[in-house]
Amino acid sequence: MSIVIAVDGTAASGKGTLAKLLARHFAFAHLDSGALYRLVALGVREAGGDARNESDAVAAARALDLTRAGDAAIRSDAIGRLASVVSAYPPVRAALLQFQRDFAAHPVGGSPGAVIDGRDIGTVICPDATAKLFIDAKPEVRANRRWKELQSLGISREEPHILAELIARDQADRSRPISPMKPAADALLLDTSDLDIDAAFAAALALVKPKIEAVLRALPRG
Ligand code: CDP
Repeated sequence: MSIVIAVDGTAASGKGTLAKLLARHFAFAHLDSGALYRLVALGVREAGGDARNESDAVAAARALDLTRAGDAAIRSDAIGRLASVVSAYPPVRAALLQFQRDFAAHPVGGSPGAVIDGRDIGTVICPDATAKLFIDAKPEVRANRRWKELQSLGISREEPHILAELIARDQADRSRPISPMKPAADALLLDTSDLDIDAAFAAALALVKPKIEAVLRALPRG
């Protein structure tokens, strides 16, 4: 079994950035599971389908092109919204489940561990994860962060509009019957509202380090 750090949380809470920094710190592989749902949404759009049509979403999930995970086109707020729609279909989640579990079990590059960020990593994908974090921040703070992120991608949106969308998406992600966004019972909670990225990383590291180092120490040397 590999070491797994599950980083779940609300939209634009900083979970992706924290997951990347944790992966770099421990030299673990990183998977942004949200990118998978965003790729499904992009696939539906490019096929001329409709995300509100379950069979269009399932077809896109089964034809997923993972080589496009770095594509800037998946980062728009429109694709984020559609990702939330397609992610509520059980067969879409089923199509993506094994890939995520395989990533956790066999992290790329022969690394001893994986950091995966998303909504249901600690609850459904990796319930036995070594360490689990649930990241949140005040909606206004998250909207401002997302506004800056979109600006840097050349996408200009009104902040109140982003705020309304984040709240609506969180509500949809929390209330769906399958894999709702929620902290696992054994997740450690981190609110990053008043923390810049360095302080948030220090806090996240302090929470997971004892668990990760205990397992790393127990690994056979070689
Ligand atoms: O970056 P942001 O937090 O806005 O979103 P994301 O992590 O890229 O996820 C986009 C959408 O995919 C979310 O709103 C969820 O509906 C869905 N998602 C999910 O259902 N399960 C995951 N493990 C990750 C994302």
